[in-house]
Amino acid sequence: MSEKLLTRYIHEPAQVNLQTFVLRGGYQGARRALCDLTPDQVIAEVDQSGLRGKGGAGFPAGFKWKAVPRDAPVKYVVVNADESEPGTFKDRLLLEHDPHQLIEGILIAAYAIGAHKAFVYTRGEFFRAREVLMRAMDEAAAYGYLGRHILGTDFDLEIVVHAGAGAYIAGEESGLLESLEGKRAMPRLRPPYPAQKGLYGQPTLLNNVETLCHVGHILRLGADGYKAHGMPALFSVSGHVARPGVYELPLGTPLREMIFEHAGGMHPARRFKACFPGGSSSAILVEEHLDTPMDYDSLRKAGSMLGSAAVIVMDDTTCMVKVIARAVEFYRDESCGKCTPCREGTVWMSQVLERVLHGHGRTEDLDLMAGIAKGMTGTCLCPLGESVPPSLGNSLRYFREEYEAHIRTGRCNVAVPA
Ligand SMILES: Cc1cc2nc3c(=O)[nH]c(=O)nc-3n(C[C@H](O)[C@H](O)[C@H](O)COP(=O)(O)O)c2cc1C
Ligand code: SF4
Repeated sequence: MSEKLLTRYIHEPAQVNLQTFVLRGGYQGARRALCDLTPDQVIAEVDQSGLRGKGGAGFPAGFKWKAVPRDAPVKYVVVNADESEPGTFKDRLLLEHDPHQLIEGILIAAYAIGAHKAFVYTRGEFFRAREVLMRAMDEAAAYGYLGRHILGTDFDLEIVVHAGAGAYIAGEESGLLESLEGKRAMPRLRPPYPAQKGLYGQPTLLNNVETLCHVGHILRLGADGYKAHGMPALFSVSGHVARPGVYELPLGTPLREMIFEHAGGMHPARRFKACFPGGSSSAILVEEHLDTPMDYDSLRKAGSMLGSAAVIVMDDTTCMVKVIARAVEFYRDESCGKCTPCREGTVWMSQVLERVLHGHGRTEDLDLMAGIAKGMTGTCLCPLGESVPPSLGNSLRYFREEYEAHIRTGRCNVAVPA
């Protein structure tokens, strides 16, 4: 792969300073956008770059930007920095170590859609990220990259940093908007989508931190120059690997290469068993999927999804019943309770899984769980409830004998190697 774009300077402490950022080519993309291009030309460049949202849904960024009405008098940019999908930790890295990269992306996005106010909704626990970001914003304002008449143009922008409410569902875009408005983070019915009616009922462009961090590079290099870098993406790799961390790799890097070359493979005497390829909401994959390219279409064909590109690796010491029971417990606790299939389904599923896990399961429990999962499919208001059935389905497909052993013997049959 050619040189890294988003994480090239991430381990150099001086990168948080505006002067260093500018010396390394920072704010060139914003300067080109604001001084040389019209908003429509900026949107066209983002569209041509093929950039897709990095928050989970993979929605084409240019399409979303185009959907914001041009003539609305008040519009907002909202940055999703809630980063609460289990296994995902790339946005925090970007916020804490390269905050101007995000500010530049916000500036370009706001100019493109004609917004003069932006909000960054940060995960509540991101104390350090907020501190670093706000210091960078002060610096940007002092040097004319934020505030009034940015870069000598007549474009103004104010950014507000908001501390989140500590709920996973506050990362879902419409729940986030509710939370930002001071209400409980309960997803809204859509349509209307945020681009039409978002924050305070106004058209709102909502993007993930990483998505916006790509934008400065797209405007600096041009869409083709950016694409020549191999469509870079950040992958958070965690779990039973020798070198967990955030890896910037081209989209389509095979799962095997990511786990065994970049992340150092399994610990000594352990074997790969399974992984979540895109956070805990993606269906688990097994050994037969290791040659799958890590991109949107290939993972969909493999029955899973890229999601937030968080690869959680499990070795042969892992009890899959325990993994799924823990994941469902998380969704049960994080369900906002607005719709019945999710609110009730996650509780029932969790109860059945707990009894199977602890040796009190019944033979008919496997069909019972499959039935609950069916009842939750296509019936939930937001993707949280819909996350449960695929994971359970794949674990029953590939590891049914582990469930059966728990039920038959009352114990786990996963042997832990000496
Ligand atoms: C339950 C749930 C939690 C989510 N959490 C996050 C999150 O923490 N960060 C994020 O960027 N997107 C999250 N998303 C996805 C957002 O709804 C939305 O698709 C995304 O922020 C849009 O930005 P993008 O187009 O740049 O990806 C979540 C979605 C769901 C259903
Ligand atoms: S699917 Fe779950 S989290 Fe989403 S709105 Fe319904 S109850 Fe709330």
